[in-house]
Amino acid sequence: MHHEAWINKRLCELGKSQLDRHLQVYPEAGGKIQIGDRSYLNFSSNDYLNLARHPDVVAKAAEALTGSGCGATASRLVTGTLNLHDELEERLARHKGYPSALLFGSGFLANVGTIPALLDKNDHVFADKLVHASIVDAVTLSRAHLYRFRHNDVEHLEQLLKKVSSTSGRKLVVTESVFSMDGDLAPLQDIADVAQSHDAMVMIDEAHATGVFGPNGSGLVSELGLEPLVNISLGTLSKAFGGYGGFVACSKSVRAFLINHARSFIYSTALPPPVVAAALGALQVIEDNRDLGAQLLKNAAALRNRLQEAGLDTGNSASQIVPVMVGENSKALAVSQKLRRHGIIGVAIRPPSVPRGTARIRLSVTLSHTREDLEHVGQVIIATAQGEGLL
Ligand SMILES: Cc1ncc(COP(=O)(O)O)c(C=O)c1O
Repeated sequence: MHHEAWINKRLCELGKSQLDRHLQVYPEAGGKIQIGDRSYLNFSSNDYLNLARHPDVVAKAAEALTGSGCGATASRLVTGTLNLHDELEERLARHKGYPSALLFGSGFLANVGTIPALLDKNDHVFADKLVHASIVDAVTLSRAHLYRFRHNDVEHLEQLLKKVSSTSGRKLVVTESVFSMDGDLAPLQDIADVAQSHDAMVMIDEAHATGVFGPNGSGLVSELGLEPLVNISLGTLSKAFGGYGGFVACSKSVRAFLINHARSFIYSTALPPPVVAAALGALQVIEDNRDLGAQLLKNAAALRNRLQEAGLDTGNSASQIVPVMVGENSKALAVSQKLRRHGIIGVAIRPPSVPRGTARIRLSVTLSHTREDLEHVGQVIIATAQGEGLL
């Protein structure tokens, strides 16, 4: 296979800079997992509210599996729109405080479908430097001009907006409300105000805020009452909802437009009935237990304070995502391996998922972790960091 030689060469180069990635196989998912005869505290799962195995959620999925089968069997525009999709979209819209919602195959597909539907090569996207890869790919697909503003820097955003005259195409400002790798929060009110004063649309990726922040877990946009200024609030069902799928909450006309133009929506099979039913089950649990998000944030704050008091750098985390900044790739891998020996899964996150020189252990606290678990993990991380010369 001589034409694959370049691939092996590239893989070798990745390995040399400790940037090669490999799949690790786990027997199960969740915040606490059993591997062989050992149990692990998993701090790398996004099942924030511990819903992936919640009995009500599993029961809903099982019922749909038995009643409606494994697959939706067609794209939404053909015969794939089932009652379950319709019901979930209505309920998500209500939950988010928007007139309507539209499901996509995943959060990634929601970004990749929405941005190119709304913008083309004559348009302009202003995105935070740290936004998720799916947003960057979406902008590339749209062929719009991309301007990156410094992380959470509203002044820089405004400078960039000023450079583009209002007659030269549409403008979209896009950011995350809770940043996936840093766990910090965007200054959404200021961003929305600046966007409005420059006549730009606003899209907020609430992947990590959905289910956790806001009244009833409806997100940070909702907590701040910014629905009137945010055209599109994107969410995922794969994190706090414990399942799979993505969605946008928006006006009825944006929804109708996306149905006609979002290629990842049009040309892909609808979400399977059990997956949709699981999301309905998760939404019910979230709405019936209004303080789940607040409880999670309180627990995460306790861990974060413990790490910070010991002198560890957790960036500007203000959510259930608590990064422990390490810096070098090799050191982050070493810390991760040591944690594993102590029964803790904390995966090292390296470039290109995070900027160069900022490799870290990204801890995500979930409701499956007790206060004792958090106390324990805090102690182990501090001792490990000391052993690695980080403290
Ligand atoms: C900010 C952000 N947006 C979108 C996604 C993609 O969501 P999904 O996992 O549902 O494809 C993620 C998940 O990694 C994310 O962190």
